[in-house]
Amino acid sequence: MSPFGPFYCVFRWDLSNVPEHERNLASVQVRLARVDELETIAEVWHRGLSQESGAPWAEYLKHWSPQGAAAWFRDSMLRLGARFFAAEKDGKIVGMNGIIFEKKSGLARFFTGVVVSPEAQRQGIGSKLLYMSLMEARKEGLRNAEVETLEGITASEHLYPKFGGRSKIIAS
Ligand SMILES: CC(C)(COP(=O)(O)OP(=O)(O)OC[C@H]1O[C@@H](n2cnc3c(N)ncnc32)[C@H](O)[C@@H]1OP(=O)(O)O)[C@@H](O)C(=O)NCCC(=O)NCCS
Repeated sequence: MSPFGPFYCVFRWDLSNVPEHERNLASVQVRLARVDELETIAEVWHRGLSQESGAPWAEYLKHWSPQGAAAWFRDSMLRLGARFFAAEKDGKIVGMNGIIFEKKSGLARFFTGVVVSPEAQRQGIGSKLLYMSLMEARKEGLRNAEVETLEGITASEHLYPKFGGRSKIIAS
């Protein structure tokens, strides 16, 4: 993290050019979440962001409780057609990504970011969620995917550059 930061940045993927993901990770199922699972999805999101090393999301999370996030997610599903991917392991939801498919602009917005429960990280779950999200966006006929995030955190250093993601700093 920069001493002047945090800096926001945007990662963008060209969906016509996503490399294959070699690792199958059969013990983890990535599927669409149901509306009655959004509270769990929001809890995973809130806990994953709040426990990220160095607390880069602390300022952002001042505006969000897990209950507030669940209401936001439900609203975005019902009003904007957002879809949520859930990563399930041993019957438990351990990761998520929320996507808005913008048919007009040809863009898939990963508007929640990819988040994995702290206890389930570093097992390939974030990579599987990201890859499946990119594949779903491509199947929907979209050209690009984007996520807004912070520079220097685990996601922007190690996850989002995978599968061809390129970053651009937008603001501090
Ligand atoms: C970013 C995040 C989703 C990654 O999830 P994950 O399940 O741990 O990801 P993976 O296990 O698939 O790891 C992906 C790559 O990152 C690397 N990685 C993961 N955590 C790492 C860490 N703490 N330090 C160094 N490398 C790390 C892995 O080794 C792997 O590298 P590889 O592709 O070369 O093998 C997870 O760290 C997270 O939820 N962070 C907090 C929430 C957040 O900030 N999300 C972004 C919102 S925009």
